[in-house]
Amino acid sequence: MSASIIDGKALSEQIREGLKREVDVLRERGAVPGLTVILVGDDSASQIYVRNKAKSCEKIGIRSDVIRMPGDTPEAELLSVIDGLNRNPDVHGILVQLPLPGHINEENVLLAISPEKDVDGFHPVNVGNLSIGRDAFLPCTPAGCIELIRSTGTEIAGKRAVVIGRSNIVGKPMAMLLLRENATVTICHSRTNGIEDVVRQADIVVAAVGKAHLVKKHWVKPGAVVIDVGMNRLADGKLAGDVDFAEVKDVAGHITPVPGGVGPMTITMLLKNTIESARRTAGLS
Ligand code: GUN
Repeated sequence: MSASIIDGKALSEQIREGLKREVDVLRERGAVPGLTVILVGDDSASQIYVRNKAKSCEKIGIRSDVIRMPGDTPEAELLSVIDGLNRNPDVHGILVQLPLPGHINEENVLLAISPEKDVDGFHPVNVGNLSIGRDAFLPCTPAGCIELIRSTGTEIAGKRAVVIGRSNIVGKPMAMLLLRENATVTICHSRTNGIEDVVRQADIVVAAVGKAHLVKKHWVKPGAVVIDVGMNRLADGKLAGDVDFAEVKDVAGHITPVPGGVGPMTITMLLKNTIESARRTAGLS
């Protein structure tokens, strides 16, 4: 049996059409959503991500600004720029592209962003609100993964879900979102004993570790939904996921490709959060 491929690009386009209509309505009311992205340094992958974010904003009518700062920018200067954006009523979303240069404390930076403009969902206030079931900006990649799972028609409630990876950006919030959907959730990581056997129990697998082709065919329960968050650059320059797609597609029920799976959905959820922030600011939700 061969898995059906979950087309993240097509799902993204479909959602973005609806988001564009929402932006049009906000624009008519004089509330044009605005996102400001800050990029410190010249990491080549980050430059591509930031360019894609700006392009995607423009396509649906969100105003987007990119602030580029040199790699040796002092932390205090970055914090001061964030402070200005927190006070600017035209800015509804602030995103500081990660990773930051080593001399800047990431925690200080994420804490400096107003939780009301934290469209990444990384501020502890948003993380805490999510964990206790209050309204929060949902972190974009995990929120996109939930949409991808839903698009398969799979009922999440009651299912066994395994998240591989425990990062603050993906693994932990992913587990929290699956729990919110009433899945029974396990987080695996580099110290998990017998990881293959744990993963094989799962009806839903989300791989977010950053190790190319880690998840093999014999790790996966036949018919499982497999979501691959990995974006690993191979020696030949090609992109590879955390899942060995070529062999896992023969056993999974549904699987995301890399690229074209989770990636487009992450940006779509960022657009959604920015629009939500503008709507709240305008007193419309
Ligand atoms: N770097 C890689 N992924 C992300 C993300 O989702 N948000 C930010 N701010 N930086 C990232």
